[in-house]
Amino acid sequence: MIKVAPSILSADFSKLGSEIKSISNADYVHFDVMDGIFVPNISFGFPVLKDISKVTDMILDVHLMIDSPSRYIGRFAEAGGDIINFHVEAEAPGNIQKTIDEIHKLGKKAGLTVKPDTPAEALMPYIDSLDLILVMTVEPGYGGQDFIGAMLPKISEIRSAIDSRGIDCLLEVDGGINKETAKLCIEMGANVLVAGADIFGAPDRAARINELRTANK
Ligand code: DX5
Ligand code: ZN
Repeated sequence: MIKVAPSILSADFSKLGSEIKSISNADYVHFDVMDGIFVPNISFGFPVLKDISKVTDMILDVHLMIDSPSRYIGRFAEAGGDIINFHVEAEAPGNIQKTIDEIHKLGKKAGLTVKPDTPAEALMPYIDSLDLILVMTVEPGYGGQDFIGAMLPKISEIRSAIDSRGIDCLLEVDGGINKETAKLCIEMGANVLVAGADIFGAPDRAARINELRTANK
């Protein structure tokens, strides 16, 4: 089953409630948090997440593009995050397993994310405790960028690692996803598709979500 996670970074923030309703046939709401330090852009944080959690029952997939995310795990859990993804590059190596364990102690799903230049090996020490791996298919920081095709072998490598261990870990891709690139990612083994510009720019968002979900059919 392929899941679709619209990124509200591409939504119209002046009417976020109705924007979220317009994607209600999706699986997750993807929530991109940027701090202007880990990435060269600033987006939104706790109060916005909290308000979104009040108006939807959808799973809130929080993608933390912030430095030292372990400082804020509790706050994002409290604000309503269901899946908390942080970047392997953003946390001290000695803190990564502790951060995953803390997310689990708070009753949330833990995701670990890799930037395009970070190899799959960086995830492997933690793979057995992860609920989700997020492979960035653009440089994090902005919506609407072009998909980096060179990420396809990394997706396939991580798919093999998940399957060979028989673990229950989702494999998510984020950046430049549209019908064409979604098909390629699904073929490599991705099963959660984040898409911002493609869904929010579509004339019929619900239809586009269904098209992405079935992009390999
Ligand atoms: C980029 C974000 C993405 C972004 C995707 O740093 O992590 O989630 O919103 O946007 P599109 O689908 O427009 O590339
Ligand atoms: Zn994201």
